[in-house]
Amino acid sequence: MNKKIIIANWKMNPDSPGRAVLLAKKIETLIHPVKNLEVVIAPPTPFLLPVGAVLEKASLGAQNTFWEDVGPYTGETSWRQSRNLGVRYVIIGHSERRIFVGETDEMVGKKVRAVAENGMTAILCIGEHERNGDDIPSTVGVQLRSALQGMKKNFLRNVIVCYEPVWAISTTPGGRPDTPDNGFRAAMYIRKIIAGMFGLQAGRAIRVAYGGSVNAKNIAAFLGEGHMDGALVGGVSLIPGEFGDLLAAALV
Ligand code: PGA
Repeated sequence: MNKKIIIANWKMNPDSPGRAVLLAKKIETLIHPVKNLEVVIAPPTPFLLPVGAVLEKASLGAQNTFWEDVGPYTGETSWRQSRNLGVRYVIIGHSERRIFVGETDEMVGKKVRAVAENGMTAILCIGEHERNGDDIPSTVGVQLRSALQGMKKNFLRNVIVCYEPVWAISTTPGGRPDTPDNGFRAAMYIRKIIAGMFGLQAGRAIRVAYGGSVNAKNIAAFLGEGHMDGALVGGVSLIPGEFGDLLAAALV
């Protein structure tokens, strides 16, 4: 059985390195190291170094990367620079990046390949803006296919696909969690597409996580009945008490 993974996506919070370190230290005290649960903390880029320095039980994650390693790309941070700071996981293609800075499927694909082929794990976020009915909209398949096109099959082990419908994110007006059943359906859909691209075994092996209003009350159902391999947690990851409860609930 795969290890479950919980990724704390702090987004553009908090506002100072001091507060980021404090938050990381509080979360560290709430992590009970167990073999089958991995915790990743993804602070904003300017705080990667100080936060990374206080992490012992959690792994360090980044919220974005550029696909080149060094060069004339003003304002960007590369996968190599992040890796040299100790980053092991990189969130890629989060809907907020697609919406607010116009990240395209093509850019997402280049980033996923750069990260996965250079020894880190890409957390590839895909998800529709709206849903009518139970079917997973085909845009999810389009995002997935273009992100993984051209990827060498043996690097798929360095990819976690995170199904994160935009309407389910807590900060989306009216945001509400998806159901574990739907998460399961989305995971099946994702596995089918990957099986079509890379073969049955790859479809079975790919790790699929869920994101969108995950909390201490619903995490166990997503990991249990929903059969998700993990969760991407935004809002709750900024509140140490609630995040600690979520981690405890993820163990049962
Ligand atoms: P949320 O955010 O947990 O606050 O819904 C999740 C995310 O956007 O990664």
